[in-house]
Amino acid sequence: MPLNILIIGDIIGKAGRRALRAGLPELIDRHMVDFVVANGENLAAGFGLTGKCANEIFNLGVDVLTNGNHCWDQKEFLKLIDQDARFVRPANFTSFAPGRGWTVRETAAGHRIAVINLIGQTFMGGWACPFLTADAVLAQIPDDVDVILVDIHAEASSEKMGLAWYLDGRVSCVYGTHTHVPTCDEAILPKGTARQSDVGMTGSYQSVIGMKVDIALKRMVQKLPQRFEPVERGGEIRATLLRVDAATGKAVAIERLMMSAEELEGRR
Ligand SMILES: [Fe+2]
Ligand SMILES: [Fe+2]
Repeated sequence: MPLNILIIGDIIGKAGRRALRAGLPELIDRHMVDFVVANGENLAAGFGLTGKCANEIFNLGVDVLTNGNHCWDQKEFLKLIDQDARFVRPANFTSFAPGRGWTVRETAAGHRIAVINLIGQTFMGGWACPFLTADAVLAQIPDDVDVILVDIHAEASSEKMGLAWYLDGRVSCVYGTHTHVPTCDEAILPKGTARQSDVGMTGSYQSVIGMKVDIALKRMVQKLPQRFEPVERGGEIRATLLRVDAATGKAVAIERLMMSAEELEGRR
């Protein structure tokens, strides 16, 4: 029996949290999900995460929250990250960053899942090389780990695809987050690593990557300062279901999932 792993990308504010509250328990049930990983960098009104928001998501069945460029937007997270091993932040942040770049958690059946978080370099700032950082992290991961997941939080599809090829056969899945738009390039590479360049956001798609349209357009057209605000209603779930052979750590299937706003509205 393969392990069923649900991958959720960036969860955007209230709309994303409400969508998960309405739909995640059913998705876990329907697909007999053993493990859930999600990206938490936009949980708190689009910017960073607080203990309160993170607990809400953990209580719905998410096992690990990864992060990205919005990691430190809420100051309390600088302290919080060291208090809970379910939080990871990009491993290629500087050595001054608190927290950890990878974690190992156990499923109810006792399978050990490693989650590694990396941030891209292209259009993302001057981070250390995610490729070489992945090599260094993999050298530290214990041998008894059954599955290795990699969240590459990056802007460029090319960089994310490149990383998947670089790690093919060494990890179970390389998936992207950050753009908030899902890609339909999911595939299993020749040596058994599943790949999807971006899982997309869980939040409102009646938006500009989760943010209110009028504000986003003012910024784009007038080029004047304007604070982004997330759309709070109409959240949708976009996620990816990964099946991994626990004996080999290789992916056997990868499939995109979706729960529309209409579908979720009926469950609220
Ligand atoms: Fe994001
Ligand atoms: Fe991001």
